[in-house]
Amino acid sequence: MSDTYMNVVNSGFAQTLAKKLGLPQPAPLRRFRKDAALLPGPVLVLGPDPHGSDSDKVAATLLSWDLDVHRDPTTSGIRWGAIILVLTQVENPGELAASALGAGSALRALARGGRVVTMTRAHGEALTPSAAAARAAVDGFTRSLAKEMRGGATANGIVLHDGLTPDAGEAMGPLRFLLSAKSSYVDGQFLHAGPADQGEAAAPIDEDQPLAGRVAVVTGGARGIGAAIAKTLARDGARVVVVDVPAAGEALSRVANAIHGTALQLDITADDAGARILEHALARHGGLHIVVHNAGITRDKLLANMSEAQWSSVMAVNVEAQLRINDFLFGSGAFTDEPRIVALASTSGIAGNRGQTNYGASKAAVMGLVAASAPLIAELGGTINAVAPGFIDTDMTSRMPFATREVARRLNSLQQAGQPVDVAEAVAFFASRDARGINGTTLRVCGQAMVGA
Ligand code: NAI
Repeated sequence: MSDTYMNVVNSGFAQTLAKKLGLPQPAPLRRFRKDAALLPGPVLVLGPDPHGSDSDKVAATLLSWDLDVHRDPTTSGIRWGAIILVLTQVENPGELAASALGAGSALRALARGGRVVTMTRAHGEALTPSAAAARAAVDGFTRSLAKEMRGGATANGIVLHDGLTPDAGEAMGPLRFLLSAKSSYVDGQFLHAGPADQGEAAAPIDEDQPLAGRVAVVTGGARGIGAAIAKTLARDGARVVVVDVPAAGEALSRVANAIHGTALQLDITADDAGARILEHALARHGGLHIVVHNAGITRDKLLANMSEAQWSSVMAVNVEAQLRINDFLFGSGAFTDEPRIVALASTSGIAGNRGQTNYGASKAAVMGLVAASAPLIAELGGTINAVAPGFIDTDMTSRMPFATREVARRLNSLQQAGQPVDVAEAVAFFASRDARGINGTTLRVCGQAMVGA
């Protein structure tokens, strides 16, 4: 759905007027295009000590990606594509000033659609209160800076866990995602990465076809976010099975045909859903590597008016089906080749939403099951993560009353709704080897919605 306000406010007189009146000024976001450069300009890498080993390591890896890398924030005449603050070695809060203010001095020269990424370590793993304070400070710094960004630029962070060096693939994969146009609606968020299995880490990654040779299943794939996920996984080289209820059969076939995948008509709440998914993937594609639990429903009512059916159907589709399918796959012995599960949560499960006690419960449940399943899938050499979309333009949100929809669209740092493809890019990232160090987490794709944490 087109964003009329954004189109108007980015042209001529309306732009000047909006500025004068202090109205929201959403900027068109930089979205992924094949053959476009990773970044809209050179990269500035900062660290507490300009010759500190961690920032040197990150800079060296970025050079190996053929990026134009600089270390001096006072360099003039450059439109920065990104500013990266490597803060993994800070021992006390006082050490943050130089990097934070250095980034501040370069911010006016950040290109439209530019990126700021902070890298730090988990504060819970710090050995001293002073180091913990410095690491935690990076959290508040990054979230606040994200709220100051303009022109479609974003600020996000990577948190490294014990045993991971900042130039390891498990850290640089998330960095590539956050720098890229694939993360355009991810803002004010953190990706937590730890060391992954060496076998997987050693395998080379084809950045053009990161999912080549992989077989993926996407539930609820007939339309909306699910269809966008299916297309994005296929773009990245996966063979895709789209699953949806028989009533959506026609739309499902259209999606499957467009991406040269296959369609499976199935209600995911069926007892044998896991078995039927596995059977189809093995018979038609010879394996199963990626499962995206996207199918979801809403049955909104204030709790005082909610029926048993409204409560139970939402729990059955949004969470109980996922639990049953995962259990089956974990025990099947056929889901062991670097398996990946990505589940759709929602910011309603984080912040809560009036009229959505059932839906909020189900989406918070998804985040809980993802966190608890991480060690189980790690034993199989894989990962499970969740993506929590904020306000995304789909059939579901287009049915909202105009005024409510307009307000909801603007209540985030990017002052616009996300598109289904923004959620799909995050899912594709979690499905890829670039995300092999991330397990059991939830990433919000919400433009830093003003609701919730
Ligand atoms: P949608 O309603 O457009 O599509 C959902 C699809 O799931 C439909 O094709 C539907 O037929 C299918 N489905 C429903 N029950 C099923 C079942 N029992 N078995 C198989 N398929 C079933 O929804 P949308 O907007 O594309 O959302 C996709 C996911 O993203 C959902 O989990 C939703 O909760 C979540 N989400 C969406 C947001 C938004 O703003 N649109 C925000 C936050 C989360």
